Amino acid sequence: MYAAFRSIGAYAPEKILTNDDLAKMVDTTDEWITKRTGIKERRIAADDELTSDLGVKAAAQAIERSGLSKDDIDMIVVATISPDYFCMPSTATVIAQKLGLPKATAFDISAACTGFIYILSIAKAFIESGMKKNVLIIGAEKLSAITDYNDRGTCILFGDGAGAAVISATDNKDEAILDVHTGADGDFGHLLMTPNGGTGSEYDGVSHEAGTCFMEMKGNETFKVAVRTLTKDVVEILKENNIDSDTIEHFIPHQANYRIIKAVGDALKMREEQVVLTVHKYGNTSGASIPMAINDIYESGKLQKGEMMLLDAFGGGLTWGSALAPFSPLK
Ligand code: ACO
Repeated sequence: MYAAFRSIGAYAPEKILTNDDLAKMVDTTDEWITKRTGIKERRIAADDELTSDLGVKAAAQAIERSGLSKDDIDMIVVATISPDYFCMPSTATVIAQKLGLPKATAFDISAACTGFIYILSIAKAFIESGMKKNVLIIGAEKLSAITDYNDRGTCILFGDGAGAAVISATDNKDEAILDVHTGADGDFGHLLMTPNGGTGSEYDGVSHEAGTCFMEMKGNETFKVAVRTLTKDVVEILKENNIDSDTIEHFIPHQANYRIIKAVGDALKMREEQVVLTVHKYGNTSGASIPMAINDIYESGKLQKGEMMLLDAFGGGLTWGSALAPFSPLK
């Protein structure tokens, strides 16, 4: 049994936060943000819009486009670092309940910006082992809820959104997800953290308000590790699968920073038309970034049946991953 990437869906909240808006909040400029990150604007969820609400919209679209019914879904996995609730219930169970999905296996995972590649590997493993048939995977983030809008080093980067995919069993090898790589290195965990809110809380009553759970990042060091690790991982997955980067139709990297995407794309000798870019309009939406980018090329008619997608991501943990998957819709 193989696992096939059947469908994609996504949702971006209506409210747009531009670089000029941010320049009124912190000491920054549109020029600085554009030059250093490639980001022009990002979406921000409404106060009463939860991470699960973003996920529900993306998931409903992915299920509808898969040609399957809700009742066919036998597992729901959500990648998020901004869950509805700190520990429980999981955002996956909330989404399943809101969507009226079967009372099947549902859980969240935490792998930051690599989250979508981690849940793709989980879906693939469950399907190939014969334990599940149709797995709904969702990357959903309301990062605005864990972003410190006084910190110009991070608040310019992040946005809200969700993306979802249905991964299904197939006996047709041509439809199969070829490979998924995942890795992590806790030695670099300190580069990107939400230091408060858990048992390792650094809350000292001075530098943080009680109850805040903001992201903190050593941006420049993270940047360097990201370029090095991503390039190495993508070179390896291509080599192990005997695939020339030239033959990849769509290179869909995590949308963190245009300069990271460009550096990795150049190292892999990717042509401009192979590289999918959404960072300018959504910023970094962590676990939602890759499925939102896939949805972008799907909706613009650029993603056709059988075309090979190369995914890569890097994020807090530190975590990283890459995947080779043909787009294999049923219809
Ligand atoms: N506006 C103006 N100046 C700024 C801003 C800003 N928004 N932010 C920082 N600066 C200043 C700094 O204070 C510094 O000033 P100094 O030289 O006087 O000290 C200067 O700009 C350079 O700062 P750097 O941090 O070295 O800038 P850099 O070019 O590295 O860009 C950025 C910062 C955009 C954060 C970049 O490092 C980056 O994208 N890092 C990687 C992010 C990433 O990929 N994270 C992983 C995924 S996220 C996740 O998993 C949730």
